[in-house]
Amino acid sequence: MALPTLLCIHGFPLDGSFWQPQVEGLSPVARVLAPDLRGFGTDRRPMPAAMQMEAYAADMKALLDAEGIDRVVLLGLSMGGYVAMAFIELWPERVQGLILCNTRSTADTGEGKAAREQTALDALSKGADVIARAMVPKVLSARTRSEQPEVARRVKAIMARQPREAIAAAARGMALRPDRTDALRRIAIPTLIVTGGRDELMPLHTSEAMHRAMPGSELVVIDAAAHLCSAEAPEIFNAEVAAFLDRIA
Ligand code: MLT
Repeated sequence: MALPTLLCIHGFPLDGSFWQPQVEGLSPVARVLAPDLRGFGTDRRPMPAAMQMEAYAADMKALLDAEGIDRVVLLGLSMGGYVAMAFIELWPERVQGLILCNTRSTADTGEGKAAREQTALDALSKGADVIARAMVPKVLSARTRSEQPEVARRVKAIMARQPREAIAAAARGMALRPDRTDALRRIAIPTLIVTGGRDELMPLHTSEAMHRAMPGSELVVIDAAAHLCSAEAPEIFNAEVAAFLDRIA
């Protein structure tokens, strides 16, 4: 039987290399695609001032079309989850399964939108390194930072090398996304929701709310992880994803 295609969509402000533990660990059970979202990593396409989640989703659809891939399992972490939710609303027929990690279906508050604009301005005026320094303590648990310093170094290095325009456009695009909770209620596709028990950016209630909106979904909480559970606890994370792929095969 052909392996399923797992399309991994990274969070903010990261790139496709973030998924290295999944590319290595899940390749025996899936064809793992881990592209750079527009403007991040090696992608040098022109950036609009604000990159909306639907525009990233359209890039992902174009990638599948170019590769001749009909259906995928979508795996999106945080901002990648926002992109996955936009994708599934637009092209549900292309999605065989959905994995939403450390994300939420609600829109930003007014305060949240203002903070996004400040992030965009800081990225443009001060550069990615400043953003990376501010984000690492928020996305990794204290335990991950002390017990797995190589994970903290890797995440910081990925963030610090992203182009400032890509960071600003993504921050502004996230501020424009709608509440997709009702759209989730209409999704009849097998869904796994994964989060970290110590995630302060997306507290557990954001995942529980998505789980409630999607009665057929499964919710897995990785206690030791914070916001980047696929990097902080890759073995547990990969085992959960592999088991899900097996269940929906
Ligand atoms: C991410 O990790 O992609 C971001 O923290 C998402 C967000 O800021 O809403």
